[in-house]
Amino acid sequence: MCGIVGYTGLGQGAAGGVATPSRTPLDVALEGLRRLEYRGYDSAGVALVAPGFERVATAKKAGKLANLIEEVDLHPLPDATAAIGHTRWATHGGPTDTNAHPHLADGDRLAVIHNGIVENFALLKQELLADGVTFHSETDTEVAAQLIAKAYRETGNLTAAMGVAARRLHGTFTLLAVHADVPDTVVGARHDSPLVVGLGEGENFLGSDVAAFIAHTHEALELGQDQIVTITPTSVAVTDFDGNPAEAKRFTVDWDAEAAEKGGFDSFMDKEIHDQPHAVGDTLLGRTDASGNLVLDDLRIDESLLRAVNKIIVVACGTAAYSGHVAKYAIEHWCRIPVEVELAHEFRYRDPIVDEKTLVVAVTQSGETMDTLMAVRHAREQGAKVISIVNTHGSTIPRESDAVLYTHAGPEIAVASTKAFLAQITAAYLLGLYLAQLRGNKFPDEISAILDELRDMPRKIQTVIERGEYVRATARSMRDASSVLFLGRHVGFPVALEGALKLKELAYIHAEGFAAGELKHGPIALIDEGQPVFVVVPSPRGRDSLHSKVVSNIQEIRARGARTLVIAEDGDDEVRKYADEIFWIPQAPTLLQPLLAVVPLQIFAMALATAKGLDVDQPRNLAKSVTVE
Ligand code: AGP
Repeated sequence: MCGIVGYTGLGQGAAGGVATPSRTPLDVALEGLRRLEYRGYDSAGVALVAPGFERVATAKKAGKLANLIEEVDLHPLPDATAAIGHTRWATHGGPTDTNAHPHLADGDRLAVIHNGIVENFALLKQELLADGVTFHSETDTEVAAQLIAKAYRETGNLTAAMGVAARRLHGTFTLLAVHADVPDTVVGARHDSPLVVGLGEGENFLGSDVAAFIAHTHEALELGQDQIVTITPTSVAVTDFDGNPAEAKRFTVDWDAEAAEKGGFDSFMDKEIHDQPHAVGDTLLGRTDASGNLVLDDLRIDESLLRAVNKIIVVACGTAAYSGHVAKYAIEHWCRIPVEVELAHEFRYRDPIVDEKTLVVAVTQSGETMDTLMAVRHAREQGAKVISIVNTHGSTIPRESDAVLYTHAGPEIAVASTKAFLAQITAAYLLGLYLAQLRGNKFPDEISAILDELRDMPRKIQTVIERGEYVRATARSMRDASSVLFLGRHVGFPVALEGALKLKELAYIHAEGFAAGELKHGPIALIDEGQPVFVVVPSPRGRDSLHSKVVSNIQEIRARGARTLVIAEDGDDEVRKYADEIFWIPQAPTLLQPLLAVVPLQIFAMALATAKGLDVDQPRNLAKSVTVE
């Protein structure tokens, strides 16, 4: 998830009778990038064009936007008439100066920036290499740039060239391009990734969201799927990828700048909960080859070593550890390899049994959690191979792992993890399926059937999010709760643990997750009149014993006065009799249900904390990345 800005303006002074703004394209680009930096901060870059330029003027630097601003201060860029700017959240290729956008082509006369993931970039890159194209970066974006350049040489028109290239790209993309031949023009295209137009007087803007230009205009156009927009200081033309005129939706932005950075949501947490369908969908993108086989290209580890693995140990902390617990059920079921899940800070002190046939999987959003890093080092010292499942490119833990599987959740700003959790579970499923494919535990058709179910999960997650108002109303009614319990069985157990953690982190009240079967071994003594208990109910279509036993658990606690708040699948009529509240989720395969069941618990925790007037983005005592042991 990257930040994108485009701008073209008549520049200082009146021209053609149109009052023009007294700001430069570079100013607008840098200001826009500053407001978009939350979308990605692995690197930043700008490209400028003006009449007479032999080539595009660019500056790009790895790291935060401040590095780019320092670069531009040290090496000033020429005045310009149009600019594009980009803050990167790395997906393909680490956060380096070379991989930073913009990417150049056509003799450095064309510059391109991109938000999204081009699934078929490897195939396109081979085709372009065969044409004699030289690449400088590891990115999918440079492939798109070279594709546009090739089409520009054939069509002589930047808009047409964008259309030719866009029709060949698979995956998700927002692309912006400028060319020295047309120095007052910026061309953008989108597919499954956002692009909005800011409408000005004598100037026009493009952005991955309105935060890019809200300081200058509130009048905007939202581009539709598979549309191209061409802006000059006095014109905005929208077409489809074939060049036919198309309609974009006009709207007025009624957010202030701060709200715009949160996409109009009241908090980054709410925005990130709503981002979850994309986080899961993007994590699944680009993981299969033309014949449908899983190809986890970030996974650089010898297949023979993976075949020889006889034990897997997941090391992680907090929410990441709970994603490891979900992974345990899936990987053991699909691969028949024993999986242990260890809290990283306990792992190395318990003198674990680890050898060269042990695969350690480190799960971490930040890639900087010291407890997890120490566990990785200890595992490698003991001879184990380490794969890390990470959301943040260029962080420490991937560098110290033998292989990496990146999640594509985009930057997670809120301290309490939501979208990264779903993306971690998704990546763990992919690892399990990859191992099952490699070791022959599953036939290709079985694996593709599970992948099809996974690809349908973003839609189902969206459905759960859309049902959120009932959850929020229930949370508001419980704002004075002092203790909430969470029960789950099988993959519902880690969901219960995560639901309890969210409530603790956000609402600062006692919450505890239990395996439902454990209740009668002691915790049931906690049940008193009106005690709120969430229960995650397995699919009634799965193992019947799972479902009937959890229904019995609900009866046991209800009989003792508990207030039962049940997460259940659409159509599960059996639970109605025993639930005080039911939060329905779409039907899903047993092992995939955590991707849905946790969402009402996230919404509940956030809504209850909000009702208490608490800061859900930065809860007290917490840090986004715990870099101390
Ligand atoms: C999650 O809501 C918490 N903020 C915390 O448990 C977090 O998951 C844990 O500290 C691990 O962080 P990591 O994923 O960056 O390693």
